[in-house]
Amino acid sequence: MLEALGAQPADALLGLIKLYNADPRPGKIDLGVGVYRTATGATPVFKAIKAAEARLIAVQDSKSYLGPEGDMGFVRALIPYVFGAGFDASRVEGMQAPGGTGAVRLAIEVAKRAGVRRVIMGTPSWPNHAQIIAAAGLELVTFRHGTAEGTADLDALKAALAEAGPGDAVLLHGCCHNPSGVDYTPAQWDEIAPMLVGRAVLPLIDLAYQGLGAGMEADAYGLRTVLAAVPEALVAYSCDKNFGLYRDRVGAFYAVTGDADALSRAMANGAAIARASWSMPPDHGAAAVRLVLDDAELTKEWLAELDDMRGRMREVRDRLAAAQQVGPIAMAPLGIQNGLFSMLPLSGEQIQALRADHAIYMAGSGRINIAGLTSTNIEPFIEALRAVTA
Ligand SMILES: Cc1ncc(COP(=O)(O)O)c(C=O)c1O
Repeated sequence: MLEALGAQPADALLGLIKLYNADPRPGKIDLGVGVYRTATGATPVFKAIKAAEARLIAVQDSKSYLGPEGDMGFVRALIPYVFGAGFDASRVEGMQAPGGTGAVRLAIEVAKRAGVRRVIMGTPSWPNHAQIIAAAGLELVTFRHGTAEGTADLDALKAALAEAGPGDAVLLHGCCHNPSGVDYTPAQWDEIAPMLVGRAVLPLIDLAYQGLGAGMEADAYGLRTVLAAVPEALVAYSCDKNFGLYRDRVGAFYAVTGDADALSRAMANGAAIARASWSMPPDHGAAAVRLVLDDAELTKEWLAELDDMRGRMREVRDRLAAAQQVGPIAMAPLGIQNGLFSMLPLSGEQIQALRADHAIYMAGSGRINIAGLTSTNIEPFIEALRAVTA
């Protein structure tokens, strides 16, 4: 029977990692993989997490099952960071999920059970968004996320929403758009929120990089502005980047509504979907985040580490933007974009030439990981860009 299986194309990014690892050239640059890197190319465990893990080992006296909703102490400890200190706690409930990916899957599946049939989303987007929407059997409706000038295309979102109605959800990146780094500005969010009012379109907000753009509060501006305007929304959250927990798979799914019955049904449905998918989320990383957030000193240490990461990426962005124009590429927009990623308008041949002639590895879409650049390799990178675009 298995011979009936169709071929599944290999993940291009995983192939890229293999090629990079096999490349013997000393100055090779990896801009492909989507993880934060320090100026020396490391992706270290946060010190605050290390301390919390040590404490966890000392105090944890059972690894018995917690249930499909996972560690509710973790889920609730995040609420003031995500929704704001003064948020009406009776409007929100959540559950733990295996990473932001698991949270997006829960949001999409719960939306489907609530009657959503189409998901409206700006493109390009994180490739897994389209895959999850397709896996859930929902229709994807796309609009252009960014303008040619490297800013967010508010008119395209407006036009997409004008067509939307009951049975539709709109998927928005809260901050640090993957893959473009192009975020809606606060002024644009102020326009987006009223557009969502009275439209029967369910907002799904994916917040996977809070703290890596403009700061923990600033990065939640869009989400909070939308939630102040609309009666209900679903939120997918990841702690995998802002706590550096990638492989520990730490995320949360939240439903927001003023209808207490609908809120408990959203959670009951989420729990049922989780039970049939992964049964229960992995505990360790979420427990470590809970310990960080429950301890003022560890929280301070975590926020300082996050500030350092953000500061380093800002420096790299400033240096790229200072190059102004590299061949046909306008570099200034990289300075106002946010987070780990930006996209360069390079052809397949140019991306191939960067790899073959300069040992620079990036995704086929032209997405670069800003944190892959350092004070040592940034000038060679800019020169290589100049060479392949000449
Ligand atoms: C926009 C977006 N959402 C969600 C995720 C999921 O993150 P994870 O499952 O690693 O927590 C990612 C990861 O790359 C992402 O870029």
